[in-house]
Amino acid sequence: MTLYVVRPFEETEQEYDDLASLLRVASTGVRPVSAGELRQEDQDWPAGYLFQRVMLVSSGNVLAAVGTSYQAYWQEAPFTVHIRFDIHPEHEEAQVLSLVYAGLQRLVAESGKKVKRLASRVRENEGVRIRFLLAQGFQETMRSPTSVLRTDAADGTISEEAGGKIAQDGVMILTLNQLKAGVPDWKRRLRDLRWEIVQDVGSTDPFSKPTIDEFEEMVLQDPALDENAYFVALNAAGDLIGMSNLWRNDPSGKRLETGLTGVVRTHRRRGIATALKKRTVLYAKSSGAATIETSNEEGSAMYALNMKLGFRPGPAWLDFSKAVTSESISNH
Ligand SMILES: CC(C)(COP(=O)(O)OP(=O)(O)OC[C@H]1O[C@@H](n2cnc3c(N)ncnc32)[C@H](O)[C@@H]1OP(=O)(O)O)[C@@H](O)C(=O)NCCC(=O)NCCS
Repeated sequence: MTLYVVRPFEETEQEYDDLASLLRVASTGVRPVSAGELRQEDQDWPAGYLFQRVMLVSSGNVLAAVGTSYQAYWQEAPFTVHIRFDIHPEHEEAQVLSLVYAGLQRLVAESGKKVKRLASRVRENEGVRIRFLLAQGFQETMRSPTSVLRTDAADGTISEEAGGKIAQDGVMILTLNQLKAGVPDWKRRLRDLRWEIVQDVGSTDPFSKPTIDEFEEMVLQDPALDENAYFVALNAAGDLIGMSNLWRNDPSGKRLETGLTGVVRTHRRRGIATALKKRTVLYAKSSGAATIETSNEEGSAMYALNMKLGFRPGPAWLDFSKAVTSESISNH
């Protein structure tokens, strides 16, 4: 059995470098983040919201795993703490998980925050983690299958002029670039559109309305943003009524990820989301991407629409949570 030491994160150059290296191998399929970006994210985390890490090191101070606990400032859930495990694949998950979990609980208890719920997200093919969470008393709360569209296999109708049908209703689709150039007050209006849609997205906790600055930081300053792969639908009166975008989280550009897709309630079931999604697929094909990936709550309208467009299901993300009290966390 490997001997480990659990200790808090230290904000040194070396620690950020080690963290960035670990995250690259521990969480494949997400955008690699540099040490500088991690430091910036830490600095930008809103004051008053928990964000802590524990480091699990083996002999020689080699980083084996990182546990993160945080409060999601984009949700209305002041008593929920999310926990996340990033584990180097060479280390035995079962042993590492319990050490990191204990370290995280200690940090949460020391923070003095009132906590009523711990939440964690795993993939359904991560059996060791699922068994671990169940053994700790967590329960599954939501299932969101991933799905993938291979652009070379995309249905023939995708290559029809995307948006031809909705144009008859006076609906047009602009890229974010075009929106910025031609639509006054675009930033506030796009934030409002996104907020209107987000409230209808299946989630374990309700979302909170972002300020313009938060919207700017979460969306417009995301390094994975591609303004030509961000589509917004406007009706004949010029109202913003729908959106869909692709994130460039894969530096090679081969894999693109769907961001928030949505249409305001008054304009649903008129083919607008389909037209927006078709624009994203056409964009992906023209940019040389091989796949588009996404995940949606099982049984949702979006999932049904994606299946219709030719996306094929993959392993689901599972949300787990556990009711706790500040006392139970302290006495773990
Ligand atoms: C999902 C959503 C984007 C669909 O937008 P839309 O413009 O109404 O979709 P479309 O008109 O293009 O629908 C195309 C097809 O998708 C399926 N679909 C759409 N809404 C559906 C629903 N509520 N239930 C079941 N199937 C649905 C249908 O097959 C539909 O074809 P049909 O109308 O001929 O039956 C919209 O309901 C929405 O904004 N929901 C809230 C936001 C959200 O959850 N987004 C996904 C998370 S990223």
